[in-house]
Amino acid sequence: MTHQKIRKKFKDFFEKRNHKWVESSSLLPTDPSVLFTTAGMQQFKPYYTGEADAMKDFGSLNTVSIQKSMRTSDIDEVGDESHLTFFEMLGNFSFGGYWKEASITWAYEFITKELGLKVDYVSVFSGSEGMPADEESELIWKEIAKNNNVAIEVKKMGIEDNTWGPTGNEGPCGPTTEIYVDGVEIWNIVFNEFYYKGNREQMLKETDPSKFKHLKPAGIDTGMGLERLAMVVQGVKNIFETDLLEPIIKLAPSELDIRAKRIIADHSRAIAFLITDGVRPSNKEQGYVLRRLMRRVITYFYTATQSTPPVDKRLAKSFIHRSDLSLMHDIFAKILEIYGQYYPELNADLIIHEFDREKEKFEKTLSQGLKELGKMPSVNAENAFKLYESYGLPFEVIKELGKEKTTELSRENFDEEFRKHQEISRAGAEKKFGGHGMITEGDLTAANAEEMKKKTRLHTATHLLHAALRKILGEEVKQQGSDITPERLRFDFTFPRKLTLEELKQVEDMVNDAVKKELPVTKTEMSYEDAIKSGALAFFKEKYPDRVTVYTIGPKTTDNSINGSTDKAVEPFNRELSNSTSSGQFFSKELCGGPHVSNTAEIGKFKITKEESVSAGIRRIRATVE
Ligand code: SER
Repeated sequence: MTHQKIRKKFKDFFEKRNHKWVESSSLLPTDPSVLFTTAGMQQFKPYYTGEADAMKDFGSLNTVSIQKSMRTSDIDEVGDESHLTFFEMLGNFSFGGYWKEASITWAYEFITKELGLKVDYVSVFSGSEGMPADEESELIWKEIAKNNNVAIEVKKMGIEDNTWGPTGNEGPCGPTTEIYVDGVEIWNIVFNEFYYKGNREQMLKETDPSKFKHLKPAGIDTGMGLERLAMVVQGVKNIFETDLLEPIIKLAPSELDIRAKRIIADHSRAIAFLITDGVRPSNKEQGYVLRRLMRRVITYFYTATQSTPPVDKRLAKSFIHRSDLSLMHDIFAKILEIYGQYYPELNADLIIHEFDREKEKFEKTLSQGLKELGKMPSVNAENAFKLYESYGLPFEVIKELGKEKTTELSRENFDEEFRKHQEISRAGAEKKFGGHGMITEGDLTAANAEEMKKKTRLHTATHLLHAALRKILGEEVKQQGSDITPERLRFDFTFPRKLTLEELKQVEDMVNDAVKKELPVTKTEMSYEDAIKSGALAFFKEKYPDRVTVYTIGPKTTDNSINGSTDKAVEPFNRELSNSTSSGQFFSKELCGGPHVSNTAEIGKFKITKEESVSAGIRRIRATVE
């Protein structure tokens, strides 16, 4: 059975059972607390938490997808028989549509009837101090075994093995039941029963059951790696022999050993998909991962042509030529052939262009770097980092080509060195800019006076935005973070759901109204206590000194129209103020280091450009002023 057939069967099976097909989302998630999309559930996170409404968006409480995913945690294992960085996940999901019995029964039916496989055994969660054992799933499996007249062993496993989530800093999580075929874990069925405010590491150690808040309704999230599934369905020995990877392996330089060929096959898929989703090689975050993958592949090609050229000189020449110029292009063309039908966004020209550009850059220093590595008697984190910094050799390449010289070198100490260096260079950059007239005023830093002026307008606009959000959405809006560049402001705040277009328009209008009303901005100094009593907002309490500066916007001394307005949206804010000791009514009052414009008229036209989720319960708005 080809991978095409498996894909189709899966989609059809769940579509027939009332699931809405949803295309794979990008490898770059909207949740900034994770680097990559690591699972099918990622794009559905807001539907589990109630932030988004599945019925409204999909016309169904159940969805099915095949999600492109990327995990870098196993990067050192790639090259063995089962690890990958890029992979695809088949998954069915439900946000209140069905629960354990349906999901387990369907999984069993799909595996045995549609694919004709035999279930070896299954696992269920044995329970921990914080999270109860999943007895319901155990009973369901026993029932299935009885009805089908087969023996299914149910193994009980602990919190490390049989729970999922949260992804990122917090999120849905719960027990899982897993299906094993031919000794391999094939399908992970997750019951998102809980919401946990913490990351997975913290969740694993949690002993307090009250920290697991019940999600209502609880959700289903299942995931089945396509490569592993293809391996058992196609009856091959490992994932690299499936029709998803073998055609790529065949194109790798024949001089390389199987491990290197597998790494090339894995990395080239990841490279192709990352570039397509907009990542470009760089020295940070996703770009840094892409750069390492590319450079490792380039190094393999380089060593293949350098160290073991075929005996026949003519052959050697043609080999070098081919491997250098077109083998990688052939590999990318093959990836297009395998995946193009499912991912029409894959663009071979773009991938090849970006790959060649990185290759050109890296090849200038690669041979010199390898020479330096050759000269070093032993390699520790510090000189490994120098090799990276001066010659661009990534950790993986140093470790692999440096062989026994690198026994002292670990990924952890290399990463530590990397981090240390980033901090030093950041501090250096600040100093450098300072020397070239970087100016700091209150909370803002800018390259010149003009930039400072622009940032100051955005800073005051941030206060107006904050006040407008609270007036329109209520006091649950609390500032979480703010960032200002000369181009835009960014404001993060607590709010449980996506804002409607109408709400965004109301907020935008209210800010522009405050600008039009030419409200004065005044700065006063007072004690922290008085400031709070007067109704000023403060969000980082512990950081404030005894005496603080407070910026007040409005009221207009001659015309009280904003505060005297009968505009409904403004009313609740005024009511809130009636308790305060402040004599006048203002539009906004915040503890702040400044600087601000002296009158809102200076701000200009305010425009919201984007509203998105940062993580559960936290929204982000970007806006500009013209
Ligand atoms: N989120 C689970 C996993 O990735 C099931 O989809 O394994």
